[in-house]
Amino acid sequence: MLGGGLVPGSLVLLGGPPGIGKSTLTNMVLGHLAGLGRRTLYVSGEESPAQVRLRAERLDLGPARPALGVPIVAETDLEAVLDVLASHAPEACVIDSVQTLHTPELSGAPGSVGQVREVAVRVMELAKARGIATILVGHVTKDGALAGPRVLEHLVDCVLQFEGERERPYRELRALKNRFGSTNEAGLFEMRQGGLVEVLDASARFVAQATRAPGSVMLAAMEGSRPLLVEVQALVAPSELEQPRRVASGLDRNRLALVLALLARHGRVGTGGADVFVNVVGGVRVDEPGVDLAIALAVASASRGVPATGLAGGAGGVPCACFGELGLTGELRWVGHPERRLQEAAKHGLGGVVAPAGSGSGAREAGTLREALAQALPREQRTPARVAA
Ligand SMILES: Nc1ncnc2c1ncn2[C@@H]1O[C@H](COP(=O)(O)OP(=O)(O)OP(=O)(O)O)[C@@H](O)[C@H]1O
Ligand SMILES: [Mg+2]
Repeated sequence: MLGGGLVPGSLVLLGGPPGIGKSTLTNMVLGHLAGLGRRTLYVSGEESPAQVRLRAERLDLGPARPALGVPIVAETDLEAVLDVLASHAPEACVIDSVQTLHTPELSGAPGSVGQVREVAVRVMELAKARGIATILVGHVTKDGALAGPRVLEHLVDCVLQFEGERERPYRELRALKNRFGSTNEAGLFEMRQGGLVEVLDASARFVAQATRAPGSVMLAAMEGSRPLLVEVQALVAPSELEQPRRVASGLDRNRLALVLALLARHGRVGTGGADVFVNVVGGVRVDEPGVDLAIALAVASASRGVPATGLAGGAGGVPCACFGELGLTGELRWVGHPERRLQEAAKHGLGGVVAPAGSGSGAREAGTLREALAQALPREQRTPARVAA
């Protein structure tokens, strides 16, 4: 995620909604570093040392239990924290959270714009002077922005966002900014008793769980440099409302609106009088152009009430997989890393991926939305009798 590791003297801002696992993740990072013999320090403005220790006891980082070796300071006074940092001189430290520290030199409550900015600037000065790799934990407001001034994002070297929904199993870590590496990487984690565990076989799980019912397709997505197969589901139902509902979760609302317009104009799939819900299963968020075709096929499949088929000609239980960006004129556009997407699909038994022209062998290529619909939803399937047969 950081493009090679924590840089001495650098400032990383880790943002995320309440309870997502920010403290867990940063505790684990320091635990691992402590296990490697690095000097670490965990500054908690939110929890008592006993609480932090309780979590450290839960973390499963190996038999030596290195998380228990991380020194903890529970303090909210910035001046006191800076004194401890200067005297303890850790190589890596975590400040949890930037919103809880405050300096009496400024008016304004902890977490106010002036305070947050002052805390970040003062910590940064010390971190740069002493070469301390610092992770600032930041709260995220309801609308998903990092609380506190945006200037914080300019100040720090790297901004990581921890996303996901508490009630769903998966949490994603993304880089929004990184002065030392790429921002294309993403990490997928699962919260377990022993802490956060990287999910390495997510594609396999999502494929196994795919419903294969009308309204379901698999998207061969890219999460940074890593391919990931996720299920995209759509529900199209008659609406009672004057303005039918358009609900997207795990993907961009505007993409959904655009794809619905394209379906109506170029795919003979009108959803004007219907509520449309589209969801990426498992709480994953897909922020890449390749999602367009998955939305289109899922909505078309839901709207017609027939399952999208995998391998050409055979509806034999293989989920239909796809990827591709839709242009405003209804063309299906090439997206990055088609070969990796196709490989990932093939690895998990999904042949005949519907994909833009030029994607490579093994794909069912389509140049337009209409062609893609014809590939995934052959006309003869529309009669339920044939589907049953
Ligand atoms: N024993 C456990 N097994 C599995 N998950 C647990 C366990 N204990 C706590 N959790 C999970 O850990 C989450 C809290 O993690 P953590 O305290 O790291 O979040 P946070 O992002 O720091 O939250 P906050 O914003 O409150 O500081 C809880 O939402 C809970 O789901
Ligand atoms: Mg916390």
